[in-house]
Amino acid sequence: MNVLVIGNGGREHAVVQALKKSPKVKKIYAMKGNAGIAELAELVNVDYCDVKAVGDWVDQSDVDFTVVTPDDPLALGLVDELESRGHKAFGPRKNAAIIEASKAFSKNLMKKYGIPTAEYEIFDSYEGAAAYVETCKIPVVLKADGLALGKGVLICKTRDEAREGVKEMMLDKKFGSAGSKVVVEEFLEGPEVSVLSFTDGKTVVPMITSCDHKRAKDNDEGLNTGGMGTFSPAPFYGEKTAKEVMEKIMIPTVRAMNEEGRPFKGVLYFGLMKTKDGMKVIEYNSRFGDPETQVVLPMLKTDLMEIFEAVTDERLADVKIEWEDGACVCVVLASGGYPEKYEKGKEITVGRLDEGIILCHAGTANKDGKLVTSGGRVLGVCAKGKDVEEARKKAYANAEKISFEGMYYRKDIGIKYRDVVKE
Ligand code: AMP
Ligand code: GLY
Repeated sequence: MNVLVIGNGGREHAVVQALKKSPKVKKIYAMKGNAGIAELAELVNVDYCDVKAVGDWVDQSDVDFTVVTPDDPLALGLVDELESRGHKAFGPRKNAAIIEASKAFSKNLMKKYGIPTAEYEIFDSYEGAAAYVETCKIPVVLKADGLALGKGVLICKTRDEAREGVKEMMLDKKFGSAGSKVVVEEFLEGPEVSVLSFTDGKTVVPMITSCDHKRAKDNDEGLNTGGMGTFSPAPFYGEKTAKEVMEKIMIPTVRAMNEEGRPFKGVLYFGLMKTKDGMKVIEYNSRFGDPETQVVLPMLKTDLMEIFEAVTDERLADVKIEWEDGACVCVVLASGGYPEKYEKGKEITVGRLDEGIILCHAGTANKDGKLVTSGGRVLGVCAKGKDVEEARKKAYANAEKISFEGMYYRKDIGIKYRDVVKE
């Protein structure tokens, strides 16, 4: 079968690498891909947010199945567009992708169905939000309602910061129209974990857990980024927690979406926090996480294509999904200046990497026969080990063999939560 993968990041490279192992997959196309993906797939240069243009391209191609990975095309209805033209596609339809695209929707869904999450209020006027933050408990969290590249969340430690945050979002429109509605949320504390799951709307199967590092600098300092590294599994997430999450969060969420007439099929990502009052939802995403996917999919033993087809055909219950034991760590190599202004087009040199190292390309391109940078997050160096410590040593030993002008990376991926009680 010929498969089209939509997207161009490290996550998509990990998906393409997993699909390449499937005996079911003959040819892979990637829209738009990157230099790493180009080694495994034929690149297609069509704007994947133009859903009609993607549909037109698929119509005239020999593609049998499309995997839609990024949030924007899902929220714009790319899966609906492809299905309406008679094509098979993996990912939620537009009316289900809203679980990520609107934080107001997801908060109201959790409240209505009793799914544990932070207390909140929603405001669509500056005056309302400004008055609320004068009296609410501090710290407080402000969230722009719409998609904002993972950057639309402000943790305000003082009342002044909260006042300024409401102004930035609602008056200065720092996050554009994403901030015309704002969720003001109770600040929660505890270790965080990403649990991605496959669901066909009937069955929900969690993948192995992982922990992201969103801040640019060591010790979770600096600006928020798309993710500077991940490790899997989370040490504090054992069978007891998994059972609690399945019963109180995963099954209720899938049922709630069905009740609302928005059945969710695809990858449903649960961003969770282990608080003193139990597991709570911080956010939902309607897709694979980046860079979570880079540490999760290398541990998958089951054929990913088989899972994608089972989800789309609503027979996920028939597939046994298996994972390798051990751990995986991904260290992201970023361009100097990221997540703010950075330069592109820097030549990348990659030394001889150790056997078993998985390199996930994100912002890379080929130019005049050379590998160059083309984005903020450039490469993810991923290594497996018997535990996180072994995997982390291997990942760092190999990160040192790669260089480009301005390159930087966090030195503490995999250290977080070492002291949290294991379960
Ligand atoms: P989000 O984009 O919703 O994942 O939020 C980004 C980050 O902000 C999360 O990974 C958390 O670290 C933090 N965050 C979000 N909501 C809360 C909350 N209610 N309490 C504490 N931290 C939060
Ligand atoms: N790593 C967080 C995300 O993919 O949203």
